[in-house]
Amino acid sequence: MEQTKMQRFPEDFLWGSASAAYQIEGGYREGGKGISNWDTFVRIPGKTYKGTTGDVAVDHYHKYLEDIQLMAEMGLKTYRFSIAWTRIYPEGKGELNQEGVDFYTAIINECLRHHIEPMVTIYHWDLPQVLVDAYGGWESPQVIDDFVAYAKTLFRLWGEKVKYWITLNEQNIFTSLGWLTAQHPPGKFDDQKKFYQVNHHAFMAHAKTVLAYREMGGKGNIGASFAYTPSYALDCRPINVMAKCNYDDLKNYWWMDVYAYGRYPIAAMTYLKNKNIAPVIQDGDIEILKKAASEITFMGVNYYQSCVCEYNPTDGVTPYGEMNTSGIKGTAQVTGIPGIYKNPANPYLLTTDWDWSIDPMGLQFCCREITSRYGLPIVISENGLGAFDKMEADHKIHDDYRIAYLQRHLQALGEAIEEGCKVVAYCTWSFTDLLSWLNGYQKRYGLIYVDRDEEGGTLDRYKKDSYYWYRNVIQTNGESLYK
Ligand code: BG6
Repeated sequence: MEQTKMQRFPEDFLWGSASAAYQIEGGYREGGKGISNWDTFVRIPGKTYKGTTGDVAVDHYHKYLEDIQLMAEMGLKTYRFSIAWTRIYPEGKGELNQEGVDFYTAIINECLRHHIEPMVTIYHWDLPQVLVDAYGGWESPQVIDDFVAYAKTLFRLWGEKVKYWITLNEQNIFTSLGWLTAQHPPGKFDDQKKFYQVNHHAFMAHAKTVLAYREMGGKGNIGASFAYTPSYALDCRPINVMAKCNYDDLKNYWWMDVYAYGRYPIAAMTYLKNKNIAPVIQDGDIEILKKAASEITFMGVNYYQSCVCEYNPTDGVTPYGEMNTSGIKGTAQVTGIPGIYKNPANPYLLTTDWDWSIDPMGLQFCCREITSRYGLPIVISENGLGAFDKMEADHKIHDDYRIAYLQRHLQALGEAIEEGCKVVAYCTWSFTDLLSWLNGYQKRYGLIYVDRDEEGGTLDRYKKDSYYWYRNVIQTNGESLYK
């Protein structure tokens, strides 16, 4: 809609950047840390790009002071990072590991010393392996109590210092890749019944965590981060618009409606019941989900791309088409659910080398949809461009393509704010370069270049051009975006 053009972002806007423990820390056997599902999974031949692991990652475990110093120099207002459950409870529960506690206390204190608001993700995909061995991890409802106990420990330790908590990162992604496409642990293929059951357990873990936070007196902000891929119908043929409607119910509202309303979308649930793959829901669960929904204070959004929806015939493409993990453009295959929808490429948008569409306006759509459907404040907990970066002989990294990407997405975000969406934070993905779960180290997202590749490297840090650009955006509170 046409609005007065914004010149600056809201005064208290949290300009941020993000990371995840497994992707940056390394030190996988240090400081008393236990083994996670990812420590195990990456050792299965063929599961990750060139067999990459997070054993060393970008060595944030030893370099966190340097990294936070770089954040401070940039003027970052918030730093989103995740806690490795296995550093707190190496055995998933039971005895607390003091060294792990000390590590994150140091990070939080260092952030606060630099006036950087710590934004903590409780779970960014690294589950203690012992819980998988004991009862199948997310497949068992037992995980709910263990998750809540772990989260309560974090609230007890840092509840006074941390004002932003993200319960789960991209529940929709770790469950899809874990139980449908076998690309993440536990590597199950096409197990739809389990997929929906696992999701129900994750929803209950999220909800009970939110309620525990409030019961413990937590007055800060809490919510989940959702990987939101908004959709466009291919054209105005009703069958394609219905494909979009079905996609939205099954791929977006299935998660966001539960977080925000504590209920599952009706048409999607009917479809699952007819196919006999609906989750088993215990008496009282829906009440808990609803209660938690009234206690969250934001919808976390990880936004990378939008998609197109077209009707998919019953003998059409499946969800299991090839994903581009090599960076060779054009190698991703079209996927979809036979008889419901498929997601062809958008001819109006450019793509990254990994075939992700580049769509700044899609971010505005996300904000508008959340605002009108849920009326919730929004935390953009991830947004960024994965690209091949090159360090020049003088140690400069001229990532003008990343600057262009971020600039256009922030302008779109500004439009959403101007239109009345309450966006409280924006985190670039990522602060330093890091391990991309399936794409190794060559798919870089950072504002800081880390000298390492699949084989190794010095692990030295270098500021990319985008680092200086973002510093200026923060210093001018967004004004530089409009110059
Ligand atoms: C999100 C995750 O899915 O996207 C991050 O929360 C991840 O952990 C990011 O790294 C980018 O994905 P990818 O596959 O390009 O590394």
